[in-house]
Amino acid sequence: MKFFVDTAEIDQIRELSDLGMVDGVTTNPSLIMKSGRDIKEVTAEICSIVSGPVSAETVALDAEGMIAEGRELAKIADNIAIKVPLTWDGLKACKVLSDEGRMVNVTLCFSANQALLAAKAGATFISPFIGRLDDLNMDGLELIADIRTIYDNYGFETNILAASIRSANHMSECAKIGADVATAPAAVIKAMANHVLTDKGLDAFTKDWAKTGQKIL
Ligand code: E4P
Repeated sequence: MKFFVDTAEIDQIRELSDLGMVDGVTTNPSLIMKSGRDIKEVTAEICSIVSGPVSAETVALDAEGMIAEGRELAKIADNIAIKVPLTWDGLKACKVLSDEGRMVNVTLCFSANQALLAAKAGATFISPFIGRLDDLNMDGLELIADIRTIYDNYGFETNILAASIRSANHMSECAKIGADVATAPAAVIKAMANHVLTDKGLDAFTKDWAKTGQKIL
């Protein structure tokens, strides 16, 4: 499973990228707002760090506007994936932009039917939002599994990009289901390293080592 980091914060991208943990980046209008930076400027900087797909989201609500914005965002770098919302207009824009050979990430997906339509429209990525479904007491991971089954049934090449990930558990569950990519905040990716027994074991080893009075260096 590929890891995308869901942020527009350059220091976080750089830290994870240096460790080989970043296969791509996703941003959205809220993340750009949080960064406080100009979308084109910050996206160009991200693309200079990460060679994998970097999603930049359109904000128009009509297909024509999304297509124009998508073409503009795609000028930033060769690795831009244009993000469009899963609306009827978004699907129209997806088809046009995909036919032009551009990477398209269809976002705000909350049902298997929406994912099926995105694949038919030629999406490179479909972004089902796990956490926002969980927030409504629905099962976000079940949606990932349903989309996996449907895409495999028919050999759709659209990549399942599990999004709105809130916990390290979401990451391992997505990997078990077979999501192609998971995009998560840097803190979630770092939390994957944590285990209470690792901390406990390390503490015991450190204390016992001190009792030996030895040094390695
Ligand atoms: C995905 O591309 C979105 O940017 C993101 O995963 C949304 O996550 P949230 O629901 O935590 O805002």
